[in-house]
Amino acid sequence: MTDLTTLEAELMTAIAAADTAQAIEDVRVKALGKQGAITTLLKSLGGMSPEERQSEGPKIHALREGVTGAITERKTGLERAALDAKLAAETLDMTLPAPAFPQGSVHPVSQVMDELAEIFADMGFSVATGPEIEDDWHNFTALNIPETHPARAMHDTFYFPDKRDGKDMLLRTHTSPVQIRTMTSEKPPIRIIAPGRVYRSDSDATHTPMFHQIEGLVIDKGIHLGHLKWTLETFLKAFFERDDIVLRLRPSYFPFTEPSVEVDVGYSIEKGRRVIGGSEGWMEVLGSGMVHRRVIEACGLDPDEWQGFAFGTGVDRLAMLKYGMDDLRAFFDGDLRWLRHYGFSALDVPTLSGGVGA
Ligand code: PHE
Repeated sequence: MTDLTTLEAELMTAIAAADTAQAIEDVRVKALGKQGAITTLLKSLGGMSPEERQSEGPKIHALREGVTGAITERKTGLERAALDAKLAAETLDMTLPAPAFPQGSVHPVSQVMDELAEIFADMGFSVATGPEIEDDWHNFTALNIPETHPARAMHDTFYFPDKRDGKDMLLRTHTSPVQIRTMTSEKPPIRIIAPGRVYRSDSDATHTPMFHQIEGLVIDKGIHLGHLKWTLETFLKAFFERDDIVLRLRPSYFPFTEPSVEVDVGYSIEKGRRVIGGSEGWMEVLGSGMVHRRVIEACGLDPDEWQGFAFGTGVDRLAMLKYGMDDLRAFFDGDLRWLRHYGFSALDVPTLSGGVGA
């Protein structure tokens, strides 16, 4: 009997010490395999006397059951531990934030152009475009700026060294040539805005060699300055999102408008900053006037039948006034810090309901 007790103790110790699947299998073979110790004991039952068998049988069977149970338990324990170790090693932290991917932003100039297109679309204006490489006739002559006109020198024009089809070529100095291109290609009534890049040889905090303008043109019958004033007022109220916009129209001079008016918008001082609205001071925002008869004529229309107004202003300047930047050069530096600060999210709803792309 000591044998059985000793065997059991040995096997139990071996089972407890087995720390791999192979080690536990080795113990199993040693105890319960074909030549295993317990198997041998079970076989020995056949050679015993009935009395002996009756007393030894249950003990051997109990040993077999105990050892089988211990082996199964140890095996399951080892498997669970292996799984735990694997899970611990392959941990995947689902609470970690996903790595951020770089997201661009809408440049304030694009944003403002979208806003302008949206505002004027509501007033029935469509968007017109023209080439940035322009000829002298569209940029100047047709706009009543003949060759000897001092305004040509004022514009600090970038000229190309070579002529094209006998014409002097240049980088357009304003968006006004789009007036000409529209009047020579479309039948009135006309209501367009023309946003785009323009170029002048000039550079300081408020001037860059390339900047953006937006032109407006209305050609119809019986158009007068009142229409111009209402349009500009409606536009500026919508753009600056304020009702207390006050305009001041000052007599001015542009070769292509007669009369010409320069438009100032009133501002007030809020927390030491100039804010558009009110009339504590005045800021010039755009040039405009009634389209000159000679311009209408140059486009092949009869100025006694068709009249209209035009206006032009800097898109960058409007952006600066609305969103509070103070150095125009930063607009075109491509500095990501500036763009992150002043840029607009493409996914956010813009200030106004849509924009050109909407
Ligand atoms: N083209 C003018 C400029 O660049 C602005 C303007 C446009 C003035 C239309 C009157 C009418 O300064």
